[in-house]
Amino acid sequence: MKPQIIALLGSPLPEGNTAKLLNKAIAGAEAAGADVRLIRAPDLEISACREFYFCRENETCIMEDDFTPLVPAFREMDSLIIATPVMTMGVPGHLKSFMDRFQVFFCAKYIRKDRLVSKEKRRMRRTLLLSISGMNLPNNFDGVKLTTESFCDVIDCRYDDELFIRDMDNRVDLDRFPELLQAAYEKGFRLGGLLTGTYAGA
Ligand SMILES: Cc1cc2nc3c(=O)[nH]c(=O)nc-3n(C[C@H](O)[C@H](O)[C@H](O)COP(=O)(O)O)c2cc1C
Repeated sequence: MKPQIIALLGSPLPEGNTAKLLNKAIAGAEAAGADVRLIRAPDLEISACREFYFCRENETCIMEDDFTPLVPAFREMDSLIIATPVMTMGVPGHLKSFMDRFQVFFCAKYIRKDRLVSKEKRRMRRTLLLSISGMNLPNNFDGVKLTTESFCDVIDCRYDDELFIRDMDNRVDLDRFPELLQAAYEKGFRLGGLLTGTYAGA
């Protein structure tokens, strides 16, 4: 069976620059032999965490919505690609709400000491973060990176690689920058190749 990667889009625009970047990374991962499932966070019907803490004792969240069927998918996936624009110096609200719901994984790992992700999966799982910012500030990606690193720890999918593109308000359209799209393809190819054992580089 091919390795399974989840590609998680944080942008509400299915054909925006972040989506273009993600599509290239997906193409790279697929070319390297992985299967990729695309999930668009803004399309999910999910509530923000209400701190009911049902997950302190249970492997699920008490709030049943589009998060519920994704728990097994995130337990079983072999790696993750997150592609998100910077919004208010962090990840967009919908994506953040989705990430917060993974308190289910946090409680299993840190409170019950009974992780939801198997040892075998933990060894192989990696996260590739792709992010775009409108502005060109030195700390543009600090918020997105901190949140993503924390999320990666919670879901046992180690933060492994990143591609940050700044100044998008001036660049306007990523199609004008084929070298940046190619860089995303190569990141995806690397991730897929590491999973299939076909990647020769570092
Ligand atoms: C609500 C909102 C907040 C934003 N906040 C920031 C920000 O804090 N810093 C920044 O550099 N760009 C910010 N941006 C610009 C986006 O990161 C930029 O337009 C990006 O290219 C959007 O990607 P997309 O079109 O693929 O969704 C913001 C955009 C929106 C809509």
